[in-house]
Order: sequence, then structure tokens, then C-alpha cells
Amino acid sequence: MALWQTYLRPTTLADALALVAQHAGRARIVAGGTDLLVELSRGQNPTGTVIDISGLRALKYVRDDGDVIRLGALATHNDVVASAACVARALPLAQACWEVGAPQLRTRGTVAGNLVTASPANDTITPLVALAADVVLISTGGERVVPLAEFYPGFRRTALRPDELVREVRIPALAPNQRGLFLKLGLRRAQAISVIDAALVVTLDGERVSDARIALGAVAPTIVRAPAAEAYLVGKFLDADTRETAGRLAAEGVTPIDDLRGSAAYRRAALANLIAHGLDRIAAGPIRDDRLTAPVLLDTGPGATGRAARPFDGTVRAVVNDRPVNMPGAATKTLLDALREDAGLTGTKEGCAEGECGACTVWLDGQAVMACLVPAPQADGTVVTTIEGLADGAELHPLQRSFIRRGAVQCGFCIPGMLMAGAKLLAERPAPAEADVRVALSGNLCRCTGYRKILDAVLDAAAAR
Ligand SMILES: Cc1cc2nc3c(=O)[nH]c(=O)nc-3n(C[C@H](O)[C@H](O)[C@H](O)COP(=O)(O)OP(=O)(O)OC[C@H]3O[C@@H](n4cnc5c(N)ncnc54)[C@H](O)[C@@H]3O)c2cc1C
Ligand code: FES
Ligand code: FES
Repeated sequence: MALWQTYLRPTTLADALALVAQHAGRARIVAGGTDLLVELSRGQNPTGTVIDISGLRALKYVRDDGDVIRLGALATHNDVVASAACVARALPLAQACWEVGAPQLRTRGTVAGNLVTASPANDTITPLVALAADVVLISTGGERVVPLAEFYPGFRRTALRPDELVREVRIPALAPNQRGLFLKLGLRRAQAISVIDAALVVTLDGERVSDARIALGAVAPTIVRAPAAEAYLVGKFLDADTRETAGRLAAEGVTPIDDLRGSAAYRRAALANLIAHGLDRIAAGPIRDDRLTAPVLLDTGPGATGRAARPFDGTVRAVVNDRPVNMPGAATKTLLDALREDAGLTGTKEGCAEGECGACTVWLDGQAVMACLVPAPQADGTVVTTIEGLADGAELHPLQRSFIRRGAVQCGFCIPGMLMAGAKLLAERPAPAEADVRVALSGNLCRCTGYRKILDAVLDAAAAR
């Protein structure tokens, strides 16, 4: 299925801005593609023309400027999680990035893309509102800076003009007397949209609160603040009564929706507890998050986002499993379809085609990605490894041998994706703990095995080294 007709891949920011101006309102921008490809495959806001900004190196950075941390528009969730500055001084954002989807989405998905999609359940908006971040928007006419809190005029709407791109996100770094965190309630630990989420940033004068910013996600059409709870906290010590009252005030101030994931009453009750719990952690002292000490990224190469694009002439040329492959018919496809239909590599499976199951996991310039969410032209000029390239000639990869030894395979459909995610983990971390394996495979679903033997197979392969 052709998802678009024309794929434009500018190589400089100036060219990109000219194209965005020329096609204003008619083309769709793509960065990591993890939202856009799902939308296009569902027929939401269809487009004939895609402008791919993922090759603009000038937009790929996380910059620590002391008081301000700057994220270029191509900074991915993994880039934030891997940034010591973000973990130390923008912790609520780093925690939110860690909660997005699964590793194969965090390798590709950008914070800017998350902000523009503008769902009230999108995880990075909440902490960035609590941190009082600004977005820098750019067009051929110049730049303007908009406080993120003013970027959302309504449900899934933004202040972005049709000829503008997000260029940068500016985050005031937490000061030594500030503590902040992000908390998310989902139906499972990975691949779970927020039922509710909250970010808290509290400024302390000794033990007393001098300022509080509380942002709430998935409880209103946009991310909202909790003004009554914030005002109540000022001047208080964070004792148990204060924490509970602040939680109650935050919950009383919202009218969440009822949906499949939770009733409005459940959301309100859970929100009160979430805020009280967050304040409890803030009261206990400086906040550390062990999940971010040495996070599993499934990311051992430069990746295709932010890799200098070369002009795209309509043929996708990549090195696939060590062999040059030309795919002239792939310009309107996903990488998954291109690999299966044009390169004849059918080992990579399509389970959901929406980034949910991990069956299509391949390596793109060293990163594990969901191939169903990668526009094939983004693979032009890259190195791709699929399950067919995992073995070393006739010698199976140690993880393949371990899966056989452990009997970790039943119908086999999920196994190529499991192997590509698991083998990437072993490349990144030769001696992973079980918790690391669980993170690495959290984007991969299996309907047969119950997972235990798969986890053991990865641990065995690591131990056998
Ligand atoms: C299975 C699955 C699970 C997910 N789980 C979560 C989750 O738990 N939490 C969460 O918050 N999100 C989740 N997401 C959503 C998604 O991964 C994120 O929103 C991601 O950050 C989007 O970034 P991207 O670079 O892939 O955006 P893209 O898909 O490339 O673009 C998204 C939108 O932003 C626009 N855009 C992108 N960059 C710019 C720019 N610089 N300027 C102007 N417009 C731009 C695009 O036109 C498009 O409208 C999930 C998605 C999937 C498929
Ligand atoms: S994640 Fe790509 S097919 Fe399911
Ligand atoms: S072995 Fe059948 S889906 Fe995993």
C-alpha cells in the first residue's frame, strides 16, 4: 500500500523550511515516524507528500548550557535518557522519555514529534510543562519562542503554523533547591498509553515549599496544571497531611474522561494517590531513579535519525546483511514492506504493522527499530541487518543456538523480532541482568511461549560467553 506519493528528503534546514513553506498545510513532516506512520496507515490526515526532516544534522543535539538544556528537534527519547545533564537536571523529562513505548520506539521517536502529536496522554508534554519549557519554532521568516504551556490551544491542536517546524525545546534546568519527578499509570509497564500521568517540580526553601508546579496528563483535553494544589503547597512542610490534601485538591480540579482504560472516578482517585506519592518522594530527599543509571537503549550505532541525508532520487539503496541492495520500488513503502517485497527478505515478520508487537524488529545503522514504522527512504544510504543476516554464514548467532537449546520457540512468528532485540542487547551489554532482558524485550510480544524460556535463552546466551 502506498502511504504517500511524493517523498521529499531535504539535506539542509534551509531547504527543509523552503519545502515546508511551499507545501504549507498540504504535506506532512516526518521525523522518527512512530506517530506519523501509524496515522497514515490508519488513513488519519492522509497526505500525498511527506517531508522527511530526519536527515538534518543541525537538529540532532542535546546541549547542556548550564541553566538551560536544549533539545534539537531530532533529539530522541533515547538521546534524553542517555544524557547525564537531562537525568541530573531535567529528571521528570528523562523519566517520561523512559516511559515511552518500548526501546525500538525510543531509538527513533523524537521529543519534538511527541509534542506536535499533542495527545493529552503523550508523556513528554507533562514534564515539560512542569519544567516551564519553551519551544522554538522556525520558518523561512525566522524564529519565535513559545512557552510550551501556550502551545496547545485545544485537544490535539498546536500553535504551529503550517509553514513552521519545531526547531528546539528549551528546558530551564532544575536548580539545586528544586526536586522534580514524573509518574505514569499505565495498564502495563511498556507499550502503554498513560491512563493518567503527572509531573511535579517543587522548589524548597530549607524544608518548606516556596514554589510548586504540578502538571497533569490524560485528565483533560490538554495537559493542565493543578493551581489549587500548587497554591496550597506554598509555605508548607511536606508532611503526610499536606501531601494528602494536595493530592485531593489536584484530583478535585480535573474532570477526566471515562474510557476503556479507566473510569473517571478511578482516574481521579488514582491521581490523588499519585500526587501524594510524588510529594512523599520529594520530601524524602534528592531524587534518584535507578532505571536511568545504565538504561538499556538497544542502540549501539549512530542510527538513521540525524544522519546527514543524501539527496533521495527515488531508489532506496542500502547495505542489507552486508550486501548492497537497490530497491527502486520502495519510495512509498515502509522499511518492513520494502525488505519483504523488494529485497525478498521475508524473515522479518509483520504482526501488527503499528509498532506494538516487535515482530518486525531489524537493525538500522546500529539501532533496533520497528521496521513497520520506518519510511523505507529513511533507510537510503544506511546499513540494515535483518534476521537473515544475524548468523555468521553457516554459524548460527549464539542467541539463535540458545533459543534452540532452551526450546524457546513455539509457532516461531515472534522469534525473528525477539532475536533481533535480544542480540542487540547482547551487543550493547554482554552480561545483562534479567531486568535488562525484560526491558530489551518489552517491545516484543509472543502469543505462545509465556516468555520464561525466551528470557532464559537470552540469559543463557550471555552466560555462555
Ligand atoms: C506502539 C507505540 C507506543 C507508543 N507509546 C507511547 C508512550 O508510551 N508515550 C508517548 O508519549 N508516546 C508513545 N507513542 C507515540 C510516539 O512514539 C511518540 O509520540 C514519538 O515521540 C513521536 O516522535 P516521532 O519522531 O516518531 O514523530 P513523527 O511520527 O515523525 O511525527 C509526529 C508528528 O509530529 C510532526 N513533527 C515531527 N517533528 C516535527 C518538527 N520538528 N516540527 C514540526 N512537526 C513535526 C509530524 O508531522 C507528525 O504530525 C507510541 C507510539 C507507538 C506506535
Ligand atoms: S511492531 Fe512492526 S509489525 Fe508489529
Ligand atoms: S512463538 Fe509463537 S508468537 Fe512467539
